[in-house]
Amino acid sequence: MVASPPRKPVTVPDIHARKRDGVPIVMITAYDATFTRLVDACDVDIVLVGDSLGMVMQGRDHTLEVTVDDMIYHARCVRRALRCAHMTVDMPFMSYQVSPEKALENAGRLVKEGGAASVKLEGGARVVPAIEALVAAGIPVMGHLGLTPQSVHAFGGFKVQAREEAEAQRLREEALMLQDAGCFSMVLEGIPAPLATEVSASLSIPTIGIGAGNGCDGQVLVMQDLLGLDDNFKPKFVKRYAELADTVRDAFSEYAREVRSRAFPGKEHTFKAKKRKSKDAGLRPVDEPEAGPSSGSDEPRRRGYGPA
Ligand code: KIV
Repeated sequence: MVASPPRKPVTVPDIHARKRDGVPIVMITAYDATFTRLVDACDVDIVLVGDSLGMVMQGRDHTLEVTVDDMIYHARCVRRALRCAHMTVDMPFMSYQVSPEKALENAGRLVKEGGAASVKLEGGARVVPAIEALVAAGIPVMGHLGLTPQSVHAFGGFKVQAREEAEAQRLREEALMLQDAGCFSMVLEGIPAPLATEVSASLSIPTIGIGAGNGCDGQVLVMQDLLGLDDNFKPKFVKRYAELADTVRDAFSEYAREVRSRAFPGKEHTFKAKKRKSKDAGLRPVDEPEAGPSSGSDEPRRRGYGPA
């Protein structure tokens, strides 16, 4: 379903205003143009080109091997299809930890080459100098605290964080540090809901939760998870809004059946050769589409084979 009135591009001030006005922020990850077009038609505030692409697009067990070039490639795919939502791009592992200068260089590439409107990076006190360098250069930064997936080895797995009071206190302090360093928002991932609610209330910038309960200023989910595209991934914090794995498998199986039974392609998907009379060249066959869904398109976006 397509949202009715044309929307304006979502900006950083718009995202701040959502918190001020008490309107929850909607963020979804995207990694390619086809799905971005669908997301962008649905009144989503922020599209995150997440380094989760290492898992859902590249099939890895974690995000640690994702490179800046990978992020730029996917950011460009998303940027081409995006009209309204704000686009945040993740800074991958080791692209911002070495030095603030290196962080600035890499964030600059995500903006200039990838079209990012803002970048996201993981961590607390130790990334404050990098955040300050980016903010000073005019690059909006989204922070990320709690279960920060780039620290998976330090955590010993993807585990809920800050369950103990000492850790919770550290997170409260680091959230304030990120706000003071100039972050315009922050993701709170995989922490107890009461802590996320408390931290959200203590900040003037919006928090966006994932596995952090309902008290954040917004929510984010990985697209493949909310669409139910992976049968084997059903964590407690994900709600599946569709079971697309079944739908997709049904479509592929039906296609395979129809190819094997020669039911596809049908007459309506098939071109005829038209014989045209020419004094000089005699009879010349010309490929011409029959009337059908793609033949009338005056602007074929892909291989629609519109009229020549
Ligand atoms: O990489 C990602 O997709 C993320 C979100 C899950 C917050 O960081």
